[in-house]
Amino acid sequence: MEISDKSYRRFFEEAREMLFIADREGRLLAVNPYGAGLLGYASPQELLAVGSIHQLYYYPQDEKDFRKRIEQEGLIRNYELTLRKKDGGKISVSLTGNAIRDGSGEVVGYEGIVRDFRERKRLEKQLLHLERLAAMGKLSAELAHEINNPLGGILMYAKLALEDLPEGDAQAQRLEKISRLATRCRMIVRGLLDFGRGDTAEREWVDVNQTILDMFDLIRDHILFRPVRVEMKLGGNLPRVWGNRSNLEQVALNMMINAAEAMEGQGTLTIETGYSKEESNFSMYFKDTGPGISKENLNKIFEPFFTTKKRGKGTGLGLSISHGIIQKHGGSIQIKSRPGEDTTFLIQLPGRKR
Ligand SMILES: Nc1ncnc2c1ncn2[C@@H]1O[C@H](COP(=O)(O)OP(=O)(O)OP(=O)(O)O)[C@@H](O)[C@H]1O
Ligand SMILES: [Mg+2]
Repeated sequence: MEISDKSYRRFFEEAREMLFIADREGRLLAVNPYGAGLLGYASPQELLAVGSIHQLYYYPQDEKDFRKRIEQEGLIRNYELTLRKKDGGKISVSLTGNAIRDGSGEVVGYEGIVRDFRERKRLEKQLLHLERLAAMGKLSAELAHEINNPLGGILMYAKLALEDLPEGDAQAQRLEKISRLATRCRMIVRGLLDFGRGDTAEREWVDVNQTILDMFDLIRDHILFRPVRVEMKLGGNLPRVWGNRSNLEQVALNMMINAAEAMEGQGTLTIETGYSKEESNFSMYFKDTGPGISKENLNKIFEPFFTTKKRGKGTGLGLSISHGIIQKHGGSIQIKSRPGEDTTFLIQLPGRKR
């Protein structure tokens, strides 16, 4: 195969990264169709008509830095910057470029490759988040393991001491309180252990609708729930889910309690279940009319010990444990929420027809 000028030209025209050539003043001289498309322009001609590269920098400082560096160093690799698209929107890109010099070494222009950076950034962020969750899960489980034994001792000694006291004794009441609080600690610790453990608990065919109803029965008379309107839209003839019953109960309970706590006893909780045969996918929605979740917090709510609740009210474990459970069941949890709007937790599980 012979490499002609035409081949070089085609290479430029058809490259799947943005390629450009600009003169010393930053006037665009050439850009390929892919590059024009990346910035939202219909054709290279339309982008060239913009004239100067100047207008394409979203932040003017980027341009100053870039020029300074490229003139000093001659070559810049993977320079991260934000460009402005035709519609005015931003796009993060990474630019590798070099200065073009004439015979006397004077800079007469620039040429370079611009890569779309968004996808990579998004993946990096996701990965970081998952790694962090996994590391925290491990740490939490180790911690829980350490706490579990002394906690068992506290419970046992409280029980022994209680047995020696007559009923109604003032000390007995205090001991009972110790017992109750330690039992709550143990439940938290158990959850943490489950959360960090890699293996799966015992499985059976679980009727998820029934699980939801059972858990609702458990809490409906709780003071938190009495004023809440609950709408059940449970799908008929749903398949069962192959899973651990008490784990799934725990997830349902966490979702309901979170919703009720968020609404502070005022509003509507809608629980919906359904099944998609095509995707053999089971879905559960928990939607509440509470205050919603800020964008910042959305990234953190699955972390162990992240809570916005008052000390003593929330330990910040409900969602991280639920997340671990659903993940072990091969499912996923998604959230749709914004401050001031409804919050929906969507839990999906792989299911099979009965
Ligand atoms: N339905 C919801 N609406 C608004 N915010 C929510 C909702 N569910 C969870 N959150 C937010 O996520 C945080 C973490 O929830 P998570 O269940 O993990 O912990 P918690 O409820 O604070 O404590 P715990 O469940 O351990 O008692 C909550 O503190 C709250 O800020
Ligand atoms: Mg909770």
